[in-house]
Amino acid sequence: MRLLVSGGAGFIGSNFIRHLFQAGDEVQVLNLDKLTYAGNLENLSSVAASPNYRFYRGDVAEPGEVGAALAECEETFGGPIDAVVHFAAESHVDRSIENPSSFLRTNIVGTQVMLDGARRHRVKRFIHVSTDEVYGSLGAKGAFTEETPLAPSSPYAASKASADLIAMAYCRTYEFPVIITRCSNNYGPYQFPEKLIPLMIANALLDRPLPVYGDGLNVRDWIYVEDHCQAIESVIKYGRPGEVYNIGGHAERTNLEVVRTILRTLGKPESLIQFVPDRPGHDRRYAMGTSKIQRELGWKPRWSFEKGIEATVEWYLANREWIEWMRSGAYREYYRRIYEEREIWVERVRAESLTRGEQA
Ligand code: NAD
Ligand code: TYD
Repeated sequence: MRLLVSGGAGFIGSNFIRHLFQAGDEVQVLNLDKLTYAGNLENLSSVAASPNYRFYRGDVAEPGEVGAALAECEETFGGPIDAVVHFAAESHVDRSIENPSSFLRTNIVGTQVMLDGARRHRVKRFIHVSTDEVYGSLGAKGAFTEETPLAPSSPYAASKASADLIAMAYCRTYEFPVIITRCSNNYGPYQFPEKLIPLMIANALLDRPLPVYGDGLNVRDWIYVEDHCQAIESVIKYGRPGEVYNIGGHAERTNLEVVRTILRTLGKPESLIQFVPDRPGHDRRYAMGTSKIQRELGWKPRWSFEKGIEATVEWYLANREWIEWMRSGAYREYYRRIYEEREIWVERVRAESLTRGEQA
């Protein structure tokens, strides 16, 4: 299999590339990534030396760079590309609320530019990696199906929904073989510590407060990243062009349940939990119906939430330097901006650092 993977230096993309190389199949991968704050080539050090892996630094919203990456993939590996797997995106809801423009550029224009390039190079299939957030918020019962109407709440979700529509339009208009996957909330090794689970693990390790938005009763359907990677591999091999496949972990938990599980696993007190003002437009509940992918491709999640959290906590405990590195510089500035607006939280942090005798 010869693949061009975009966004392969990020959380899910890097897990996916390592997954492919570990699976032992004959695989050749060119990773096209801009290396934004969320991309880190360290995540791929285990495959970097392989002759079957190539990194290309480029922006998915720049046609010249995308064209050059596609040509380099064909030249390096000596043949046509079997599939593009398009992960590259701005992915954090809170950042999209603060400033939507890079989300619209990368997620919408970037997808269109990737589709154009892939068509021009006659790529055999295009996997567009999307999210359950395009469906908006659920009530207390039921689950999303592939037919649930799109009703995104955040600028991030709206940008992904727009990209989904463009991708499907390319399939219908140009008969270009696009497949869309929509997955629920991922967690696992190498996730940037701005998302709920790694942020809470990183803070708890330092005995810092854990900022829970609103009442902490929003529900997400958590999937261990390895299960998502396995699902995408199945979609590449056996998925039907023009179709959407929902992917989920069958592990609905409130945010409070997630945070309490992390604290228990780390042996830290629940007094670290700090309720902070809610995220604007915060979706109440997501849950994925996965019967289509199970029926058509035989895929189902293998990791229980408890087993996945244990493995994730273990990984972060063994990789504290990675967390420190990722949280340096520009990230610290972002963290200060986002959470300083949440006044209760800031008061608590100040009080805590004063009792430790540090400068607030
Ligand atoms: P991430 O933020 O960890 O990684 C994104 C990667 O894309 C980074 O390596 C970054 O450098 C790269 N990138 C960003 N802008 C780029 C650009 N303009 N050109 C080239 N590269 C660029 O994201 P993630 O959590 O790994 O998510 C990957 C994909 O999966 C996204 O499309 C996201 O919408 C989707 N998704 C994520 C989740 C989740 O829970 N994280 C769930 C469902 C779907
Ligand atoms: P997040 O990891 O940002 O994923 P998404 O918004 O894409 O679902 O957030 C998961 C849930 O955790 C969501 O309901 C928001 C909540 N959350 C907090 O309560 N505190 C935090 O500091 C963060 C980052 C998220």
